Amino acid sequence: MKSPIPDYLTKVLENARANDDGAPAAYIETLANADTSKMAVALATVDGKVYSAGDDQVEFSIQSISKAFVYALAIEDAGLSRVLEKIGVEPSGDKFNHLSLEKKTNRPMNPMINAGAITAHSLVVGPDATLEERTDRILNALSKLAGRQLHVDEEVYEAELRDADRNMAIGYMLKAAGIISCDPRVVVKGYIRQCAINVTVNDLAIMAATLCNAGVHPVTCERIMPQLSVRQVLSVMTTCGMYDAAGDWVSRVGFPAKSGVAGGIIGALPGQVGIAAFSPKLDERGNSVRGVIMCEQLSNDMGLHMM
Ligand code: DON
Repeated sequence: MKSPIPDYLTKVLENARANDDGAPAAYIETLANADTSKMAVALATVDGKVYSAGDDQVEFSIQSISKAFVYALAIEDAGLSRVLEKIGVEPSGDKFNHLSLEKKTNRPMNPMINAGAITAHSLVVGPDATLEERTDRILNALSKLAGRQLHVDEEVYEAELRDADRNMAIGYMLKAAGIISCDPRVVVKGYIRQCAINVTVNDLAIMAATLCNAGVHPVTCERIMPQLSVRQVLSVMTTCGMYDAAGDWVSRVGFPAKSGVAGGIIGALPGQVGIAAFSPKLDERGNSVRGVIMCEQLSNDMGLHMM
């Protein structure tokens, strides 16, 4: 029997298309020129079924969504206590590219803002790792999660690198504050490369479903992440994943999530379903306008709110 889910997802997509608000990220040239008519949504269940609608073959850069997975890698490579020495777990209430260091400890407030994500990137492999070693580790891990070989979009990488003054400044401040010990330029370049990895909504839904499945890949049944890392990642996604909209998101939509400036959003409801939405136009907080609408409708229709 044909599943009714793709037709339902098409309705969710068309409902969100009615909203034409927002604008694509302007600060990365390639993203500023994105085709804003493209939209897609996907669901992946913990038993490995993937359903999607819309432009589900369109690739876009993962951007800040990578922060959730790289945080997990930092925990795996450096250990949770070392990671907690370097990165806090409190919402910053600031924009994603603010420095937001804690007064007492100098730690970035959380791993979902740039300062915390750059620090998490520096903890992958080890302090003496080269740019290539860290980015290979991240690309391989994300590819394993997606179930196919992913690639860096060199055009997006170059475009962001041309305008990386703010992230470079964050890198140097982190070094001056004693939070990172390696060359800030190497770390920030690596962080920008991690953000430029291309994905589709199907990739993201299955990656999110691995988080829902306590770190076991729903299709290959391979354990990819320790359960403790997944718990940590989902916790910070809940409190900090949607930036300064995190409280609004948790009350309205109610599942752990992470967004990126290319217009992607992932949601992960533990034990149930991984969600991915894509549409390039963003609201003033940096979250995809139509992506938020799609997630909210999925949450309401399918009773996905955690409470
Ligand atoms: O650091 C940056 O500016 C980007 N490469 C990633 C930012 C991002 O996706 C924030 N999202 N809403």
